[in-house]
Amino acid sequence: MGAGNNIAVMASGKGSNLQVILEAIQTGTCPVHVRLVISDRAEAGALDIARHAGVPDVLHLNPKDHADRTAFDTACGDAIEAAGCSWIVLAGYMRILSPAFVQRFAGRIINIHPSLLPAFAGADGVGDALDYGVRITGCTVHLVDEVLDGGPILAQAAVPVLDDDTRDSLHARIQAEEHRLYPATLKRMVECGFTIRGRRVIWKNT
Ligand code: GAR
Repeated sequence: MGAGNNIAVMASGKGSNLQVILEAIQTGTCPVHVRLVISDRAEAGALDIARHAGVPDVLHLNPKDHADRTAFDTACGDAIEAAGCSWIVLAGYMRILSPAFVQRFAGRIINIHPSLLPAFAGADGVGDALDYGVRITGCTVHLVDEVLDGGPILAQAAVPVLDDDTRDSLHARIQAEEHRLYPATLKRMVECGFTIRGRRVIWKNT
């Protein structure tokens, strides 16, 4: 597997998306190599999952150790470059990236968001969709640009909202779709590649 398949994962939370990516790699259904996992939170479950799976570099970087967002992001970016990663995969990373970081890795940062973008961007895509009363929501895998949750869309999956849904029950069903969609999209990304036309992602070799 070439260096072009090396990915860094950035995560702030429990790490279930990281877990399914690592499992898909194990079973041979996702041809990427997780070289590095970075979390901004020491207690993130993602760090334990990464250590347990034997990811070569597992880092907790504390934003409070850095003067500002740009300095923190520079430290993350330096670690990512040192690890030789071609792609940055955000998996529940809950910090807004600085414009300098986005420009440094332009077109190489992927995010998963728990709504059908452009609806319900922001920190609570699940709760905002539930409160709005939409009947269908879902998840989106997209490229990251300078606009929050605003980059070109790689893949989406729809999830119906049920009458008795709570935020947790809805999020659980959205996560089931995320766990299918994220490894499949990473596979397609490294195996097929894509070009961008306007805002549209055009997949190659499909
Ligand atoms: C996921 O549902 C992801 O879509 C969401 O955080 C969760 C992380 O779960 N991301 C965002 O809301 C980003 N704005 P995980 O830690 O179990 O992978």
